[in-house]
Amino acid sequence: MFQIGGLIVLCGLLAQSTAQLGGLPLPLGQVVPLPLDQGLPLSVTPAVPLKPKDPAGSLNGALTNGLLSGGLLGILENLPLLNILKPGGGTSGGLIGGLLGTLTSGIPLLNNIIDLRITNPQLLELGLVQSPDGHRLYVTIPLGLNLELKLPMITSLLELNLRLNVTAEVLAVRDNQGRVHLVLGDCIHSPGSLHISLLKGVAPLPVQGLLDGITDILNKVLPELVQGKVCPLVNEVLSHLDVTLVHDIAELLIHGVQFVIKV
Ligand SMILES: *[C@@H]1O[C@H](CO)[C@@H](O)[C@H](O)[C@H]1NC(C)=O
Repeated sequence: MFQIGGLIVLCGLLAQSTAQLGGLPLPLGQVVPLPLDQGLPLSVTPAVPLKPKDPAGSLNGALTNGLLSGGLLGILENLPLLNILKPGGGTSGGLIGGLLGTLTSGIPLLNNIIDLRITNPQLLELGLVQSPDGHRLYVTIPLGLNLELKLPMITSLLELNLRLNVTAEVLAVRDNQGRVHLVLGDCIHSPGSLHISLLKGVAPLPVQGLLDGITDILNKVLPELVQGKVCPLVNEVLSHLDVTLVHDIAELLIHGVQFVIKV
């Protein structure tokens, strides 16, 4: 506390003496060294916060930070996929097991998944699109993860890369007290938007069939699963955004002002 106060006074004095000197450069040796090694911010933020010049960019940054600090990557990494892929392996075995039964009829291979690991969860760059009337925003949340599968008949791991976009609709609402909020509207994945590619592991013919089976199942369950976990987080992030940012964005949306630059 003392040091911060001291620094502010010192800065003030420096500014004053610089002004008095009419901007003459002070020889560096005469300046009292500042305690720069105390972990204090080096640059002083402007006293008057400027209106964001780039509201879309600010919102994009705030949402990205919110999703990451809200644990998005951990959510992806801990998706209960093994339970789903391995029939009877989880509590939801009934439903999924039934699904698997129909999908893999005659191919009991999926029973044999030894292990499954999710690695490299990723949030790629968010995309913002504004509705033609200007009142709504669509936030595309591109997610990625790798899936390592250990199967009994293959010595090497199979590694798949999965990519999926979740799209969240953001609306501005005014509450009874006249305060504006940003709220989550629809939050969906586009049908067929799960992209799966084989990263590692040669797939000899019998395994190709298995891979197709896994792809089928992932397509059926993963988008729903991800959506069910990510959308509540988006809702959470929206409700904790900086009030000034929310106010600026909500005003633009309410008045239908186009502020998202189309690329
Ligand atoms: C996600 O959306 C972006 C555009 O916002 C698109 O370029 C990309 O291919 C999509 N990814 C998937 C997996 O659909």
